[in-house]
Amino acid sequence: MHIAMIGAGYVGLTTATCFAEMGHDVACHDTDSERISQLEAGELPIYEPRLEEAMQRMVASGKLRFSRSGANCVGGADIAFLAVGTPATPDGRIDLSQVEAAARLVSRWLKPGAVVVIKSTVVAGTCRRVREIMAEERKSLDFSVAANPEFLREGSAMEDFLCPDRIVIGCDDRRSALLLSEVYRPLTERGTPKVLTSTTNAELIKYAANAFLALKIGFINEVADLCAETGADVGPVAEGIGLDRRIGPSFLRPGPGYGGSCFPKDTCAFAATGRDHGARQFLIETLIERNEKRKAALARRIIAQGELRKGSVVAVLGLAFKANTDDIREAAALRIIPILQKAGLRVKAHDPKAATNARQWLRDVEWTDTAYEAAHGADAVVILTEWEEYKNLDLGRLACTMSRRVVFDYRNVLNPRAVAAHGLTYLSLGRPPVSPTRKTTRGRVSALTGSDQRVAAPARD
Ligand code: UDX
Repeated sequence: MHIAMIGAGYVGLTTATCFAEMGHDVACHDTDSERISQLEAGELPIYEPRLEEAMQRMVASGKLRFSRSGANCVGGADIAFLAVGTPATPDGRIDLSQVEAAARLVSRWLKPGAVVVIKSTVVAGTCRRVREIMAEERKSLDFSVAANPEFLREGSAMEDFLCPDRIVIGCDDRRSALLLSEVYRPLTERGTPKVLTSTTNAELIKYAANAFLALKIGFINEVADLCAETGADVGPVAEGIGLDRRIGPSFLRPGPGYGGSCFPKDTCAFAATGRDHGARQFLIETLIERNEKRKAALARRIIAQGELRKGSVVAVLGLAFKANTDDIREAAALRIIPILQKAGLRVKAHDPKAATNARQWLRDVEWTDTAYEAAHGADAVVILTEWEEYKNLDLGRLACTMSRRVVFDYRNVLNPRAVAAHGLTYLSLGRPPVSPTRKTTRGRVSALTGSDQRVAAPARD
């Protein structure tokens, strides 16, 4: 199958590379010609594990190529995927201008009988709109429009693509259903379930799925707060909930509030769609508000529970919105650090991959190359991203280098007893108190008792 991919961003590149791995011939186009030059030189403009090597392999095999020309990319294609951005507008809706521009571009070069597939996350009714635009552009053209949402997580995009839970194909005619089924045959033959449905259903599935996952996170975050107040431990509680097959174990890890390029934007667009159609999504509207407030509340909690004052030094470990990505969009750190700074605290920060991106958004932060440099002389360490290297921190080294010994683990990545054994006061999310069990000679061990729940004054939110 000859496939054109419009958009060489994170979704377009992952999809194009994986289609090539599945045996298709793929041409990828982007309006950003600098990006195309970079890709032609074999460089991936984003950080995504395994993708760069796979992309280079596919280019070398001749299955994947990049093109500056829309005509050259789309001309011979049986199927053209639109994987362009759908940024949020200030009112929470999505801006479809890139999708519309891509639709106009493909309509110019598409061969008769070809299918245009929207990969971008779009609101219900977008396929209909794209069909209208293309029909206006090229009246005589015979074509179909379909929806095929992606469910790729940053950091595991290739695995998610090649071993998905399901493939959702939204089609309103037989031609596109047959063609898209053929594209995905290598995966469905291996047993991946396929949901073949209408375009509107497929568009809605994507938003509803992300909204539901975000709800699970919002739920466990509130359960964690309740655990803290009642003396329970959110770890076993989440395990006990998640073993119910109707609920499932994933997305039940408490954290500083979800972020990233998808959940915040998609939940807002979902809520806006509900408002626009007179079917308000009250649960999601509340979730959006609670998730935002959580980040600010945790910042205030750090100040209050860490007994931090003007001039205190805080080491923030983790700027990415989650581990294994350099993406800092809607990351908790971007919200929490400015609040700490506003309270007069000095912030040092470390992230193994996302520091360069974060520098563009954060001011007056002291950037360090290692977590230990960040912790050097700090009054408190705050873990905001669950990077593997933070899970394996040398706690003895950390304790020795800090000025006061308070650790806020807002990803629950450390073992509370191990932390306490190094004379550190440990405050995590929804876990029982563990007081420092050893006092070390350097610095003062905080008088704090070692858990969120023993310290009053949960921040106003
Ligand atoms: C998400 C969806 O998972 C994916 O299907 C969709 O296509 C794109 O959006 P992504 O944004 O890459 O993927 O990240 P994901 O792993 O889903 O995490 C989103 C946010 O939720 C992160 O901030 C993460 O830290 C947070 N999270 C996730 C939790 O706080 N707890 C959890 O248990 C899971």
